[in-house]
Amino acid sequence: MEKREKFASRLGFLLISAGCAIGLGNVWKFPYITGKYGGAAFVLIYFLFLLILGIPVLTAELAVGRASQKSVAMSMDVLEPKGSKWHWFKYPAMAGNYLLMMFYTTVAGWMVYYFVKMAAGGFVGLDADGVGAAFNHTLGSPAINIGFMVFVVISCMFIVAKGLQNGVEKITKVMMLALLGLMVVLAIRSIFLPGGEEGLSFYLKPDFTKLAEYGLTEVLFAAMSQAFFTLSIGMGAMAIFGSYIDRGRRLTGEAICITILDTSVALMAGLIIFPACFAYGVDPGQGPGLIFVTLPNVFNAMPGGRLWGALFFLFMCFAAFSTVIAVFQNLIAFWEDLTDLPKKKIVSIHIVLMLILCLPCALGYNVLASFQPLGAGSGVLDLEDFIVSNNILPLGSLIYVIFCSWKMGWGWDNFMAEANTGDHGVKFPNAIRLYIKYILPLIILFVFVMGYISIFGQK
Ligand code: PFF
Repeated sequence: MEKREKFASRLGFLLISAGCAIGLGNVWKFPYITGKYGGAAFVLIYFLFLLILGIPVLTAELAVGRASQKSVAMSMDVLEPKGSKWHWFKYPAMAGNYLLMMFYTTVAGWMVYYFVKMAAGGFVGLDADGVGAAFNHTLGSPAINIGFMVFVVISCMFIVAKGLQNGVEKITKVMMLALLGLMVVLAIRSIFLPGGEEGLSFYLKPDFTKLAEYGLTEVLFAAMSQAFFTLSIGMGAMAIFGSYIDRGRRLTGEAICITILDTSVALMAGLIIFPACFAYGVDPGQGPGLIFVTLPNVFNAMPGGRLWGALFFLFMCFAAFSTVIAVFQNLIAFWEDLTDLPKKKIVSIHIVLMLILCLPCALGYNVLASFQPLGAGSGVLDLEDFIVSNNILPLGSLIYVIFCSWKMGWGWDNFMAEANTGDHGVKFPNAIRLYIKYILPLIILFVFVMGYISIFGQK
């Protein structure tokens, strides 16, 4: 049998796993959700969920990947007790990875477009209405949406085709290091803006009255869903990277490192955005349009704003691309595990397939705008995001947890042996067995049910 590809270094593994986790969820969703739910109080709850839910599920995924040496397309087939049906999980998990990319590539395309437009001076001289109109024009143009989506799909597939070490690891490492550097520069620039302190205190001082305003359950639900999404857990997107590492290190420590990197980027994105919003008097709680509608105004008002704005959107592009490349690697690995087709062929088929699958979202705000599946104002993106974020990620995480802790699955002992194999790193604590086996699944079920109630209950 052919030997499985491996990462060249631990740094490569950590940066690519973090690259998969760090994405639009950190730089786009996290700031606007935090803005909406009142800043620091929300951030505290989100931290709590990363700790009690994110790190254990991430460790479970990495363990399943490393023990099976397979992607989610085959991992349960390898580890499940004979005769059981855990391997059916591959279908929703694989579908989830495709669905995620079906909308993610369109938003990544907007980032590239905004980078190009900002660098070319396309926002210079526009007032707030002009900037808003520019975003509507972006959404309304099939050519812009399709053109940039095609660019994202083809360039990321090309990198995956170059191989794990020579393509994915090399490019993502450079992008992630550039992202971490850019982020620090942008945050320092933003914090020292005159008038930015108010933004800092909004972001860093907990205001619990907002929690009462929205209701604790809605805020809890938002924080928990964000924890699943940001860590990429629940459908094997992280498990694949467990299958590319050796048994030198314990997995809990690696999961903690990835979570810390992911969280630092989300926090820094907030440090970049909130002081700037307050310094230039724009509303930080205005929702998904935050970075497209609000921030160009900020850069217009800032000395040297064209340069800072271009660097900001470049940062966004790196975050989005590192995730697309990671998930594409997973898609290709599914078919390498399931068939004997050569990789080049799988990649070629996927370029065509993804271009077709990503079309509905790219057309969702223009040609298909009348399709509003989740109520007035919703679109293709919301539907795809809903299926992944509110269904596949929580239920998939639940399956990973049960698989790793119940006898009817892979079982606690096997999971612990895999997670704790290695000479370095934090051990998974045996003392939390009952928590993992019973309480964690209940928390996840609670998120799932609350998600449904908060979306459909209010109508
Ligand atoms: N974690 C990514 C982000 O924050 O943008 C999104 C994501 C990737 C979610 C892969 C789920 C996944 F399986």
